[in-house]
Amino acid sequence: MRIIIGANGGLGRALVDYYSQAEPVIAVSRTAPPVSLAAEVTWVQVAGYQPEHLAPLFEVLTEQLAAGQVVSGVLSAIGLLHTDSYQPEKRLADLNLAQLQHQYQVNAILPLLLLQQLVPYLPRQQPCSFVQLSAKVGSITDNHLGGWYSYRASKAALNMLLKTAAIELRRTHKQLTIAAIHPGTTDTELSKPFQARLTPDKLYSAQLSAQRIAAVIAQLDPQHSGALWHWDGTLLPF
Ligand SMILES: NC(=O)c1ccc[n+]([C@@H]2O[C@H](COP(=O)([O-])OP(=O)(O)OC[C@H]3O[C@@H](n4cnc5c(N)ncnc54)[C@H](OP(=O)(O)O)[C@@H]3O)[C@@H](O)[C@H]2O)c1
Repeated sequence: MRIIIGANGGLGRALVDYYSQAEPVIAVSRTAPPVSLAAEVTWVQVAGYQPEHLAPLFEVLTEQLAAGQVVSGVLSAIGLLHTDSYQPEKRLADLNLAQLQHQYQVNAILPLLLLQQLVPYLPRQQPCSFVQLSAKVGSITDNHLGGWYSYRASKAALNMLLKTAAIELRRTHKQLTIAAIHPGTTDTELSKPFQARLTPDKLYSAQLSAQRIAAVIAQLDPQHSGALWHWDGTLLPF
């Protein structure tokens, strides 16, 4: 049984479709379920992703675990680059507190609180993964272009938080692999404003990216817990 969070996003939806062909999926979203939903998908609507919003998810999870299901993995596709009120910063002069805080909250803090809240539901004796979609632009080593301050920094913070949790949880959850995965530039609402400059071969469909993400997840191993992965299965530097 896989838990997919941010199930109404472009990548979230494609990942729900992909995984529900093979196993039961608990799809978690702030939005109502779509009109047609595969029988394998249990849709859980939450008011947000802070701990106090997650009771409906815990209820469903408790039921499913009691019925003998085991969590094979958690996959969070939540994330934010722009809103109606801001775009990624091009220069230092564009920085402002509200945007920086919002980006850190959604891209770094909420994913770690989700991990914190879900650990008690993860198996200790069976392989399991906790994956958060991250971004290559969050790699400090790979930052050659600059710009996008708050998105870059929030994804770098995410990578650090995941790595730190991986070190701690290695002791109690020996078969758990935590991973950050860069999905590649994918045709979703998040990338829409930035697609014009891309050649078609550099913009991937959500379906293709979902397959690639799933392929990376399939080869994860606890020895590499806490790493940042490219969609092609290679390790990215922090
Ligand atoms: N698309 C790309 O080119 C690309 C490239 C690199 C990395 N990524 C990463 O991949 C992940 C998925 O991106 P996507 O392209 O699928 O984006 P998307 O279509 O915009 O979906 C992102 C999802 O994140 C959740 N979310 C958005 N704003 C939120 C907020 N303020 N509070 C809480 N949750 C919020 C929503 O889930 P619900 O509506 O279901 O609640 C939303 O549907 C993100 O982490 C993104 O940074 C994407």
